[in-house]
Parts: sequence; structure tokens; C-alpha cells
Amino acid sequence: MNEQTTSASELRLGDARTDATHLEMLEIVRDVRLATGAAKEARYFELVAHTAEHFAQEERWMLATGIQAGHCHFNQHADVLQVLKEVERLARAGDAQYIDRATDALLEWFMPHAMSMDAGLVAHLQQQGFDTATETLAQAVQPTASVA
Ligand SMILES: [Fe+2]
Ligand SMILES: [Fe+2]
Repeated sequence: MNEQTTSASELRLGDARTDATHLEMLEIVRDVRLATGAAKEARYFELVAHTAEHFAQEERWMLATGIQAGHCHFNQHADVLQVLKEVERLARAGDAQYIDRATDALLEWFMPHAMSMDAGLVAHLQQQGFDTATETLAQAVQPTASVA
């Protein structure tokens, strides 16, 4: 969809791994929308698993760079994932009618989230010297005192 193409280019936040993860998500969203029947369900389950890992990845990075688990970025992820998983549970129980609505809602939520929370996270990680490819700090975080 045109809306997705535009968003994909706008969503480049300047961190390769973040951007790759976001683009993968948009591709799976597109696939869910295009698929039908059992294929739609399978793609939706893939979207839920991908989103869980996507959120877990950002949360690992936050924790590694001093952002506390009580930060609202964590809460936003948790709320969204809870809804996605509930829709998956219903689909696995034979009621797949909410998949399209949940997928559209995820996309609507994701755009402003990425442009605010995730953009802020990328800026923070870069400021901290955190390399998302290796998930390490380029330079050791200075503890209270140095040796010597
Ligand atoms: Fe994200
Ligand atoms: Fe996020």
C-alpha cells in the first residue's frame, strides 16, 4: 500500500538494526493483509512472534544503557503485545475475525511510536556509544571511579 511505502522511508531512524527490524515488520504486516484463510493466520502468528522479539530487542538495549524497566516505552510494548497475543489466542481457538483489525491497529500505533519512542531510543543509544549490531558499549560506561 502507498501508505506503507511512504511510512517505510520515513521510518528510517538511523540505526541499521532498528530500521531492518521495522522494515521486516512492515513487510509481515503487508503479507498478513494480503493473505487469506490459514495463510493469513500463519502470517499473523509470525507477526506476533516478530513483534515480541522486536520489542524484546529494544528492551534489552534500554536495560543495557541504563533505562529502567518502568520507563513508558516498556509499558507501551507490553500493552500492544498483550492485545496481539490475545487475538492470536482467539485465532488458535478458531475465531480469526480479529486479525485484520489487530494488524491495522498495530500499524496505526507503530508509526507514532517509532517516530517518538524508538527515535528517542536510537538517539540515546548513539549518545551512549551502544552498538546495536554487537549489543555492546563501544566505550565502557564510566562507573563511579576508575582503577588507579
Ligand atoms: Fe521499534
Ligand atoms: Fe519501541
